[in-house]
Formats: sequence, C-alpha cells, structure tokens
Amino acid sequence: MVLRSQVLGCGGYLPERIVTNAELAKRIDSTDEWIVQRTGIRERRVAADGELTSDLAVAACREALIRAGIGAAEVDLLVVATSTPDETFPATAARVQAAIGMTGGAAFDVQAVCSGFVYALAVADNFLRVGQAKTAIVVGAETYSRILDWTDRGTCVLFGDGAGAVVLRAIEGQGTIEDRGVLSTHLFADGRYHDLLYVNGGPSSTGTAGVVRMEGREVFRHAVVKLAQAVDAAIAANGISSSDIDWLVPHQANLRIIESMGHRLGLPAEKVVVTVDRHANTSSASIPLALAEATADGRIKPGHLVLLEAMGGGFTWGSALVRW
Ligand code: ACO
Repeated sequence: MVLRSQVLGCGGYLPERIVTNAELAKRIDSTDEWIVQRTGIRERRVAADGELTSDLAVAACREALIRAGIGAAEVDLLVVATSTPDETFPATAARVQAAIGMTGGAAFDVQAVCSGFVYALAVADNFLRVGQAKTAIVVGAETYSRILDWTDRGTCVLFGDGAGAVVLRAIEGQGTIEDRGVLSTHLFADGRYHDLLYVNGGPSSTGTAGVVRMEGREVFRHAVVKLAQAVDAAIAANGISSSDIDWLVPHQANLRIIESMGHRLGLPAEKVVVTVDRHANTSSASIPLALAEATADGRIKPGHLVLLEAMGGGFTWGSALVRW
C-alpha cells in the first residue's frame, strides 16, 4: 500500500471586470486581430482596486472546499503558488489560512512563476505521501495586472488575474497506475535564462514591485522544447502512452503553444482544456482555474487520466500526471 494525494474538489475565482482586446487596443498600438491570431486571447479579467491576490485565493479555496465537501478545519497544509503576493511578507498563504478559517497546520507560498501550481502540487503531494500532512489545499492566485507595464504591447495583452484551488487528501492506494490521485510530478529549472522573462523590481533590488519584461519570441521557442521534456518525463515514468491520456490541462500562456503540445501528444482538440481565450495567462492560477472549469462542467470525471504541464519565468517547468 502507498499513500496517494487524491483530488477531493476544485474551485476557481475570476474578478468581475472583463477587459477585451478592443479596449486594450484603444490604449496601445495593437488590434484584436493581432492578439487573437498570435495568442488566442480575446479577453482577460482584472482585479478591482483593493482586491488582492489573497482575496482571489480565498474565494477559490471556499469553492474548492464546498466541492470537496469538507471544512477548513480538516485542512493541515495550505500551499499558495503566486508571484504577485499581497506583501513581501508574510506569505499570502498566511492571510488565506486565517480568512478560510483554517486553524492549524502549515501555510506557505511557493514562487515558480507560471509553473507555480505544478511546483506547489508537487510539494503538497510529497507532504501527503510521506504522511507529514493529511489534507492539503493547493492554490494558484495572481494579480498580474499590478506588475504589467500597460504601455508595453509585447506583454500587457498577455496576462490576466484569477485564482484556482485544489483540495487533496492522502488516501491509500495499490501503488499502480490505476490508483486515483497524483501519480507523478516532474520539476525542472534553469536559472541561466533569467533575462528572457523577469520582473524588473523587488524588495532586495529596487525596493519597488517592478513590471514584467519578456523576450516573447525566445520564451516561446524554449517553452515548446521544455514542455515536451516535462510531458515525456511523465509518460515515461508511468509507462503509459499518450493515447492513455484523457485530458491535457496545460498552463494557458498562448493557444499556439497549447495546440502544439496537444498535436505532439496526438490528442484531438476536444481532449485539451483551453481557457486562454477568456482568462489570458493567469500564471500559477491558469491550471487550477482550468481544472475547476472542466470538473464543474463534467468534462473531467473520476477515473480520468489528466496530464498537467507548465513553463514559466526562471525558467521553471514541469508536469504532473493525475488519476482523477
Ligand atoms: N500588437 C501588435 N503588435 C505587436 C504586439 C501587439 N500586442 N506585441 C508585439 N508586436 C509586434 C512586435 O513589436 C513585432 O514587431 P516588429 O516585427 O516590427 O519588431 C511583431 O509584433 C512580432 O513580434 P514577436 O514577438 O516576434 O511576435 P510573436 O509571434 O512571437 O508573438 C508573443 C509574441 C505573443 C509574446 C509570443 O512570442 C508568445 O506568446 N511568447 C510566449 C510567452 C509565454 O509563453 N510565456 C509563458 C511564460 S509566462 C510567465 O512565466 C510569466
């Protein structure tokens, strides 16, 4: 017998305000056609003034707990993936913990930019499998609208705000591919690529939050190669073939990257969950938001094999294979 991190429920939250490409094109030299053709993005959500990353995370956690059918008092591990924390410290997770009414256990943030959710999932999964915690919430929550240069057309059109959460519980399995729960996680990083995607500020450098700077074409080139490496690692480690995968739930950065990964795996478009058209790139929130949507509408069902993959600043990248 082995312990597996089974998914009990998912939740998502999007700020109310929708910003369309047409609205952005009034402020920068761009068009709806350019943005849709190059990225697949049609609109994104932007948090209201005073609406913080922790507020988004709390809403997503509450929904995930309801869908899981458990109370916050049962949770003994909270991991928040974010690169847009409320404050330099304490961790955004501390605020979320208090707000949802979780009274014990551990709470901390994980920072791996757009791979943050996969990293946080791996951390929580390892806690649960060794028995250090029994019930975890893994959250991805971001307010990128606060770290965008709204005059830089190469980045400001790409990102959005949102949060998603997944409740996990350690449950005994047989140690086979048929077990429900997280079957594998694979994480990678290569800090030599810092200059291709970073935020030009921070408490120790400038003392300000800074804004996103990205060499989009170069990031795109690396993303395709590195995501393939992460996906291949998951397939090899589990001894499956890509035809066994029921759903690919990729990080939502660019529709062309998503489609190229689906194509590489030989998956029809109907098996790839896409939200980038409505959410844009919500960084660490994109995968749990997509999971919340695809579980709520009944696409992802118990027993399905779900492959997650993400790549982001650092560079960081990774994958997770989950039997739902
Ligand atoms: N509207 C109109 N034109 C634009 C815009 C815009 N919003 N943005 C850039 N352009 C122009 C450029 O200035 C350039 O013009 P030039 O040829 O006169 O210099 C031209 O369009 C082509 O620019 P490219 O950057 O080569 O365009 P590309 O096809 O690569 O698309 C994009 C750009 C959408 C950014 C793409 O490269 C991309 O999606 N990259 C990957 C981003 C990503 O995956 N990030 C994931 C991680 S994110 C994270 O971790 C936080």
